[in-house]
Amino acid sequence: MEFLLAADAALPVKGAYGFLGGRGSLMLDVVFLAMFLVVPVLLFSVYQVKYLRRYQLHKQLQIVLGTVLLIAVTAFELDMRFFTDWKALATPSPYFDATKPWSCPVGYSLIVHLSFAIPTLLLWIVVIVQALRHFPSPPQPGKHSAWHRRWGMIATAGMVMTGVTGWIFYWMAFIAT
Ligand code: HEM
Repeated sequence: MEFLLAADAALPVKGAYGFLGGRGSLMLDVVFLAMFLVVPVLLFSVYQVKYLRRYQLHKQLQIVLGTVLLIAVTAFELDMRFFTDWKALATPSPYFDATKPWSCPVGYSLIVHLSFAIPTLLLWIVVIVQALRHFPSPPQPGKHSAWHRRWGMIATAGMVMTGVTGWIFYWMAFIAT
């Protein structure tokens, strides 16, 4: 134990805790909360384009969401690589087994989460780049519409599942006692 910044001094964890009252780091808490904003804004954006044909609003919202997500993912990765040992934070959880971190309920839930999060991130980059290349500006339906509607729906579902599985992992690893 090198130093303690935890509210609960019984937890031998190096690094600062976040603000949600669990064992999440600052960045984990930021991303956990950000997804409660991202998912509704995403559904709002798809509703706007699908039922109200507000193409420009949809474009702007998707670019903002894409940028927010890219910044969040980068900050999160840096945090996980260099600052936060999520396994140490998860150790008090009854769903975590530090001797087999990837073969316990927390580990399984992280694998499920990552199998949505990683393909979804790549798909978002492709959907945004293709939309910017193939739709006119300001955006209007056209030859690219069929491809975009299909993969846009898959990208939307992927992001919702990334959020839901991320919240489940967060709860199991950093809240449950
Ligand atoms: C990852 C980012 C994006 C996602 C997930 C996404 C998702 C969607 C979805 C699900 C629809 C279909 C709605 C329906 O069923 O009618 C749609 C339609 C549309 N999107 Fe996106 N979109 C994204 C980015 C963009 C961008 C950057 C642009 C503009 C450059 C754009 C322009 C459009 C247009 C013009 C339509 C209407 C297509 C049509 O109805 O013919 N989208 N989008």
